[in-house]
Amino acid sequence: VAVTDGVDPVRTAQQLAHGAGHDYEPGSPHLKHAGLHSWLVGELRNALGGLGAVDGHEPEVLEIGGGHGTFTQTLLGAGARVTVTEMSRFSADRLRERFAAEDRVRVVYDPDGNCSPVEPVDAVLYLSVLHHIPDYVDAVRRSIALVRTGGAVVTFQDPLWYPRQTRFARCADRGSYLAWRLGQGNMRRGLSTAMRRLRGVYDPGEPSDMAEYHVVRDGVDEMALQRILEDQFDSVRVIPYWSSQAGWAQWLGERLFPANTFGIVALGRKRA
Ligand SMILES: C[S@@+](CC[C@H](N)C(=O)[O-])C[C@H]1O[C@@H](n2cnc3c(N)ncnc32)[C@H](O)[C@@H]1O
Repeated sequence: VAVTDGVDPVRTAQQLAHGAGHDYEPGSPHLKHAGLHSWLVGELRNALGGLGAVDGHEPEVLEIGGGHGTFTQTLLGAGARVTVTEMSRFSADRLRERFAAEDRVRVVYDPDGNCSPVEPVDAVLYLSVLHHIPDYVDAVRRSIALVRTGGAVVTFQDPLWYPRQTRFARCADRGSYLAWRLGQGNMRRGLSTAMRRLRGVYDPGEPSDMAEYHVVRDGVDEMALQRILEDQFDSVRVIPYWSSQAGWAQWLGERLFPANTFGIVALGRKRA
């Protein structure tokens, strides 16, 4: 699907990478591996469990980059009202279709990715989204401002900051990714992309360089996020874990490899 709005290469890349008919599951360890998925759902339920309990209102959650709504459904199941944003027009349309009959879901097509039309909420969630946002630290900083006193920010499924990982951890991560890629049948393109990345060459016209922005650069700096969240929340937990697209690598990595992915659960937003 060719969608070039000619404005912002990241926006264009998100729409190309998440166009009509896109299937999120094959490239998403947290969607496709049952064990990882149910662990993550449990973490989300725990994080949201106490919200809204003080005055008994339904927790209001802002889910950034909801994709096709897998976790929107989880949030509904946990009793939340959800505003879900999408930078891809196609995915926003799918979300609208999927939740048309659900008055607890509001879908916002957010081509600029700045969630400006949103009111204060009890929690902001980013599930496999921060690594798509060039200035993710600023995005998190701005979303903290939307969270009510006592509320939460939760992020999962982003690559740990590469420079802090051991050589073994990087090799395990890259090796399992390349082996998975081999099975996808487009190894030649993958290798030429890998060569450009080794040379630090990024092309704004190349969707693979722009869509998975920090997967192809240096990962996501979990400690930078931890620092800004610690200023604003009573408790901040960084949760490193292993994830890989291939089922065999997920099984092996959970037992043998160091973490390559992280989540953060920040609870108890301090009074502004
Ligand atoms: C890997 S998918 C994750 C989808 C979903 N959260 C999940 O875990 O299944 C990332 C999604 O974030 C969207 N996205 C990227 N940057 C965004 C932004 N700044 N605001 C809203 N959506 C964004 C993309 O269009 C894409 O659908």
